[in-house]
Amino acid sequence: MSEHPPTSYFDRKRSASYERRATRLLGGLYRRVASDVAALAPPGAVVLDVGTGPGRLLHAVAARRADLVLGGVDLSADMVEIANARAGAWSSRITFQAADVASLPYSDDSVDVVVSTLSMHEWPDQRRAVAELRRVLRPGGVLLVYDIRFARVDRESFSGFVGVRRVPVRLRWWPVALFARVTATVS
Ligand SMILES: C[S@@+](CC[C@H](N)C(=O)[O-])C[C@H]1O[C@@H](n2cnc3c(N)ncnc32)[C@H](O)[C@@H]1O
Repeated sequence: MSEHPPTSYFDRKRSASYERRATRLLGGLYRRVASDVAALAPPGAVVLDVGTGPGRLLHAVAARRADLVLGGVDLSADMVEIANARAGAWSSRITFQAADVASLPYSDDSVDVVVSTLSMHEWPDQRRAVAELRRVLRPGGVLLVYDIRFARVDRESFSGFVGVRRVPVRLRWWPVALFARVTATVS
């Protein structure tokens, strides 16, 4: 039986519209997540943002840590085009590629930190996706998945990790926690 490659909801028009809204509304989330990544990543670490969208999170990480090797992947080639176009001064430091979370263009044990924001709720097969994230992470590597607080999280997906924790994330000036973070480590 042949498998159809997944296609993204984010075509050219939706990607451009998302980029405008994200830039206006999600700066606080990106800054918070970038601070978490900067605090956790070892010197010279390889950091991969999965479902990177317009790539704004990686700009914020690049601004905090000059030593990190930064990559972003997204299912939507249109999003990747926008991410490349918006990278500006960061373009030499960040590599954006079109790829499905379930089939990443990274070798086994090659990434120190995988981060993802507001993307997991769109992954059609969470178990398969998280297994792929586990494959590319090095021993001791950390997974940080931020999503809408009420998004479904299949705990079994993270069974290949240790120290799995899910906590609400409230941004300073928002009255309620709209987001949640899953943190998990490769033993
Ligand atoms: C709501 S946007 C979030 C983008 C960005 N992370 C942010 O926080 O602004 C969700 C992104 O996940 C991407 N995405 C959805 N399914 C994916 C998959 N299977 N593999 C990789 N990326 C995926 C979409 O194309 C989209 O760019």
